[in-house]
Amino acid sequence: MDRGTKAAVLVTGGAGFIGAHTAKALYDRGYLPVVYDSLSSGFREAVRWGPLVHGDIRDARTLSDAMAEHDVKAVIHFAGLIEVGRSTVKPDLFWEHNVAGTVSLLGAMRERGVGRLVFSSSAAVYGQGGRGALETIPENAPKAPASPYGDTKLACEWMIEAQCRAYGLTGVALRYFNAAGADASGQIGEAHEPETHLIPLAIAAALGDGKPLTVFGADFDTPDGTCLRDYIHVSDLADAHVAALEADLPAGAYEAANVGTGQGASVLEVVEAVGRAVGRPVPHSIGPRRAGDPPSLVANPGRARELLGWGATRSSLDQIVADALRWESQPSYGAGVRGKRKASVPVR
Ligand code: UFG
Repeated sequence: MDRGTKAAVLVTGGAGFIGAHTAKALYDRGYLPVVYDSLSSGFREAVRWGPLVHGDIRDARTLSDAMAEHDVKAVIHFAGLIEVGRSTVKPDLFWEHNVAGTVSLLGAMRERGVGRLVFSSSAAVYGQGGRGALETIPENAPKAPASPYGDTKLACEWMIEAQCRAYGLTGVALRYFNAAGADASGQIGEAHEPETHLIPLAIAAALGDGKPLTVFGADFDTPDGTCLRDYIHVSDLADAHVAALEADLPAGAYEAANVGTGQGASVLEVVEAVGRAVGRPVPHSIGPRRAGDPPSLVANPGRARELLGWGATRSSLDQIVADALRWESQPSYGAGVRGKRKASVPVR
C-alpha cells in the first residue's frame, strides 16, 4: 500500500496493547485506523485515532459490513486470545476465537475484495526454540508450539498462506517476541487482566503495589540461570506492522518475519533494570520453573530488515522499562484491573 493515502485499515483487536499502539502508528503515517474490537479485553479509552466498530472476530457479517462502510483497503489482525496458560485448559476456546475467528475474517476480506493482511503471530510457533539453547531463531527454525495458543497461531499462518496462494491475497505474519514498554506520550500502555508479564509485574512489585516478584526458575542452562527473552518495544513493533502493510509484495505472496531485536535479556537483568528505573530494588524471590517456559527465545531479526526495511530503534532494556514505568505510574485506563497505585514515582 502507498504511504500517506489516508486509506482505511481495519485493525482487529485495536483496543488491546499492541493493537492500540499500531493504530497510533498508522494514524501518524496518514492512514485511518478503523478499530474492530469486542472490548472483552481491550479498552474503549485506547481507541483514539479512528472509529471503533464493536464486534466479535467470529462474526463474518459484522466484519464484512465494517469493511464496506469504511472502505477498508487492508487489515491488521490482532484479535484473539493470548494467555498461554489458559489455552492449556480451554483449548477449544482458543481454536474458536483464534482460528475460526481468522476464518471469518478471511471470508469477509474475500467478499469485500480486501487484498492485504498483516497477521499477529508469535514466537510461540517455535515452542522450545528449535535449535541450540542460546542461538537466535530464524524463521525457518522447526515449528513445534508448546501450547494450544501456539498451535492456533501456527494454524492461522498455514491457513493464511493457503488463502494467499489460492485467492491472490497478500499476507505477512509477524512473529513477535516479548512485546513490552509503552508509547512515549503516556496515552496508551499495557493493561492485561490478569497481568502475567514480567515487566509490569516487576514494576508493580518495585512500586510496592503488587506482590513481590517470583522469578520462575534460576536453574536453566543460561548465563545467570534465568530465562532469556528478546524484549521488543511496543512502538517498534507497531512500526513493523506499518512496514508490513507497505512492503512491496505481489498478489498471492505470503511472508513470515520475526519481530525482535536479536538481543536476549535474562529475568534477573530485567529485575535489575526495573530496580534502576524505579530507584529501589524489586522485591523478589526465586521460585520453581513455570510449565512450558523455554530457556531462551531470541529472534534472528534479519528477515524483517531485508523484507520490511525494519529494525528496532527504541528497544534497549532501559528505554523499554522507562516507558513502561511512565505508564504504570499513571495509567490513563486499566488501573482498576491492577488495583489503585499506592505510589507514583517521578519519571526520569
Ligand atoms: N517471569 C517470571 N516471573 C513472573 C513472570 C514472568 O520469572 O512473574 C519470567 C518468565 O518465566 C519468562 C520471562 O519472565 O522467562 C518472560 O515472561 P512473560 O510472561 O513476560 O512472557 P513470555 O515469554 O512467557 O510470553 C511471551 C508473550 C506471549 C507469547 C509467548 C510465546 O508475552 O504472548 O512469549 O513464547 F505467547
